Amino acid sequence: MSTNAPKVLGYDEQSRIERARERAKTVDGLMGLRGQRILEVGCGHGDFCKVLAEEYDCEVVGTEVLPYEDWKEIRSPQLTLLQMDIAKEQHFPENHFDRIVSFVVWEHMRHPWSALKECQRILAPTGKKYLHAYLYGAPRLSHLHYLVPDPWLHLTHSPREIMQRIDKNELPWYFWCNRVSYLHYLQYFRKLGFYVAYENIIREPFPEKHYQENEQLLGLYSEYDLRMHGFQVVLVFDERFPKEALDDAVYSKLVRGDRQR
Ligand SMILES: C[S@@+](CC[C@H](N)C(=O)[O-])C[C@H]1O[C@@H](n2cnc3c(N)ncnc32)[C@H](O)[C@@H]1O
Repeated sequence: MSTNAPKVLGYDEQSRIERARERAKTVDGLMGLRGQRILEVGCGHGDFCKVLAEEYDCEVVGTEVLPYEDWKEIRSPQLTLLQMDIAKEQHFPENHFDRIVSFVVWEHMRHPWSALKECQRILAPTGKKYLHAYLYGAPRLSHLHYLVPDPWLHLTHSPREIMQRIDKNELPWYFWCNRVSYLHYLQYFRKLGFYVAYENIIREPFPEKHYQENEQLLGLYSEYDLRMHGFQVVLVFDERFPKEALDDAVYSKLVRGDRQR
């Protein structure tokens, strides 16, 4: 039987490398990766870094806050994997990287603004940043839908209630996601002088019935945010004034003159 459905990749090594190759192809098409000096923030097992170092002739650094066992197996002269938190340490020189990338990491960050600020510092003025992140409005952001299929579980139940529901004494690290909305991100980008050069907003059908049944709790959140699951963006600086905060068109010129950016 033939099917046109997209292939669903698993988490075994082979599938992970396949996913890394697909990601590399997509991001290369969006902002050019070949031969560049690249930082991947939140590199996980290191598959994407490995593909870039071995197949795209890149000099690559991957950072992670968690230790990953498989790093021991990865050896490439063009690749460095570091356990550190860019939100807390200024490890790299200013303007050091041509490209900074990350996949599904920013939603797990404790200090997303500080991490973005550090990326702005270490990215070259002509550099580009690819950011793919999920948002708190995503119905499956709890990452526990394989145990409890309710949409927005993370917004309708406390961590204690969820632990009781799944009969566990703790929640996995990937449950913890911040509440940064897309509008927060846009404001952060503006303050850091990042223009959005490419944008893809990830949306899925709205679970209307579940929303109506739980409106007392879900109505506490902006419906605009609940309809926005995630995004993929490419960020660039202004050619003439890189890293300078961008004007906010929402303020009139009069107010803008008095405001600190
Ligand atoms: C969902 S995993 C994604 C890993 C990898 N990017 C991938 O797509 O397979 C999120 C990762 O972000 C990492 N992370 C969270 N905060 C971080 C930070 N401040 N710096 C670097 N990595 C971070 C976590 O340790 C975790 O490995």
